[in-house]
Amino acid sequence: MRIVIINGPNLNLIGTRSPEIYGSTTLDELDDSCRAWAIEVGSEVETYQSNHEGDIIDRLHAARDADAVVINPGAFTHYSYAIRDAIDAIGIPTVEVHISNVRDREAWRRISVVSEVCVATIFGRGVVGYRDAIRHLAAHSAWPVETISYGPEADNVGDLRIPLGEGPHPVAVLIHGGFWRNTASRDLLDAVAVDLTRRGWATWNIEFVRVGSGGGWRATTTDVTHAIASLADFAEGHELDLDRVILVGHGSGGHLALQATVGIRELPIAAVAALAPIGDLEAAHNAGVGDGAVEAFMRRTPDQSPDRHVAASPIKNLPIGIPLLVIHGDDDDRIPVSISRSFAGRAADEGDTVVYHELEGVGHDALVEPSSPAWEKVVDEIDRLR
Ligand code: DQA
Repeated sequence: MRIVIINGPNLNLIGTRSPEIYGSTTLDELDDSCRAWAIEVGSEVETYQSNHEGDIIDRLHAARDADAVVINPGAFTHYSYAIRDAIDAIGIPTVEVHISNVRDREAWRRISVVSEVCVATIFGRGVVGYRDAIRHLAAHSAWPVETISYGPEADNVGDLRIPLGEGPHPVAVLIHGGFWRNTASRDLLDAVAVDLTRRGWATWNIEFVRVGSGGGWRATTTDVTHAIASLADFAEGHELDLDRVILVGHGSGGHLALQATVGIRELPIAAVAALAPIGDLEAAHNAGVGDGAVEAFMRRTPDQSPDRHVAASPIKNLPIGIPLLVIHGDDDDRIPVSISRSFAGRAADEGDTVVYHELEGVGHDALVEPSSPAWEKVVDEIDRLR
């Protein structure tokens, strides 16, 4: 793939411009990193920066012969319909990137006039957002994907990938992590989606409202439930086997997968694969995971609202009555392995069928990185749930 990376006004100054917001990486360093990230996914990049709207539009037009675009339009994001039209006109997959969390700053930065014509918007991850955009585009081209809406919000969508061969296909619903925050989105599980689809699973990689964009324990879990139930609406046209639906959640997505089994009535869930999950909200809160993530998600501490925490915490809602696979790396610095150890033990004590693995020397993200050796173990176990 040939990917054109376009940076708009004032991004030539990163490294010295408000480093507390944009970090210390310079544009030259960022361009070098983009080249390296592209090589990792078998692609190449051309980089471009301009402070002028017309020049950016000309560069977009010239990108028509490329395969994809990554664009950070800077402040033009918020009002340039001309750049929006140019992205729309060239008609090649484009990812919008912002270094900072534009949803968490001045109100005018929350508006993007280009999002609608982009295949994804990645913000608030620092310069790593460019790496994720490149990876997203690689996954986008690796396997055909259909993005389907399951509700009225922009975040009520999922990516459906259908395996080769005759259906009906078993379905893996993928629920991404990121501590329920809006800076994380389903692109984090793109590579997992492609790999599972290659292995014969239909994958439904879902988005949902998150903290900072209308989410919180109630709205987020409601979205996840709706996203899963919506499989019934398009199962027939896509040869999905609704008797073989499993949920695969990572980190906070593991929490959402486990909780979804409580809320879902429309479909039988055949199994849950919880990868480094937050199975216990109170323990996670006490361990300080995700820098106050549990309190931000629940909008209360366990002390302030014990009932709410009991209702929303998987360990307090056992047995779940569905076969359970729990895998956690013992080198996880994001979510302590001890949480899964006691969650899996308790689930088994309460009568659930639990397969539990602690992977030695494995961290948090390796569990959902198909290039990591840990993924081999994870995917072997997931395949057994088919
Ligand atoms: C930005 C956010 C914009 O609001 C701002 O005008 C920029 C950079 C970002 O990368 O976070 O110039 O796009």
